[in-house]
Amino acid sequence: MTLREALLEAVERLERHRVSSPRLNAEVMLAHCLSVDRTYLYTHDDRVLSGEEYQRFEDALSERISGVPVQYIVGRQEFYGRYFLVTPAVLIPRPETEYIVETVLELQPAPGDAIIDVGAGSGCIGLTLSLEIPHAHVTIADISLEALLVAKTNAAQLGAPASIVCMDVLDAVRGLFDFVVSNPPYVNPAETSRLQREVREHEPHVALFAPDEGFDVIRRLIPSAVRLLNPGGYLIMEIGLGMEERVLDLFGPPWEKLPTKADLQGIPRTVVARRKRGQ
Ligand SMILES: C[S@@+](CC[C@H](N)C(=O)[O-])C[C@H]1O[C@@H](n2cnc3c(N)ncnc32)[C@H](O)[C@@H]1O
Repeated sequence: MTLREALLEAVERLERHRVSSPRLNAEVMLAHCLSVDRTYLYTHDDRVLSGEEYQRFEDALSERISGVPVQYIVGRQEFYGRYFLVTPAVLIPRPETEYIVETVLELQPAPGDAIIDVGAGSGCIGLTLSLEIPHAHVTIADISLEALLVAKTNAAQLGAPASIVCMDVLDAVRGLFDFVVSNPPYVNPAETSRLQREVREHEPHVALFAPDEGFDVIRRLIPSAVRLLNPGGYLIMEIGLGMEERVLDLFGPPWEKLPTKADLQGIPRTVVARRKRGQ
């Protein structure tokens, strides 16, 4: 079977099983199985698949049809222009989380500023900042040791210097920071059934759900950040649909609340607050 035929057949099967973006999924998986990029599939569309290659593609297709996200099948996801290793131990980085990176960069951190990423998962936020900000001192933290092992691999592969700490919120950390950034778990466990099946069944629940209607980690993160931020430092945090008002109510003195950034769908997504000086 040629690459062209294999792709056509795969797209048809994915369509039949109502997998979204069937063409893209098929191309990404076939390219992965052959260790080539997607352009190769077009420039070599007459190439015949070996039995072993065909079997690998078959296995990938079956996994995808059973609901496994394509990112876990190919083991990577792009974030802010770089590829991060992803396994089922970590959340698949989402495009809207790039607003956290953008917000930090807009605030023009000084070289050498200390940044901590709480709930780092794959490390996509903290490691990106480590690479984008010269001489930044980045710490990435997570409650999940399995996630931190993935982040550690990403740090090594991307050449991103970072300290790595396993802890609950900010409990075990000492020292002062200029930026606390976080994409915490914020899904209300009572709303599990509203999640897409792929997310609910394959992404780690510790990365998705937080007790207290999704607010538990956020509620604990804000006072911990007061303790650890230098005066004038920032807390930048992602929130879910409909959470903005309740989250902003959690910021009393010594915080100055800045406008929340909306994502491309207009959903208030990135909360920004500054620890005032002299308080
Ligand atoms: C929504 S994911 C974000 C992962 C990554 N930062 C991203 O944006 O793709 C939340 C992360 O927080 C971690 N987490 C959950 N509860 C935590 C807690 N109490 N303390 C620290 N990290 C926690 C999870 O293990 C998960 O990696």
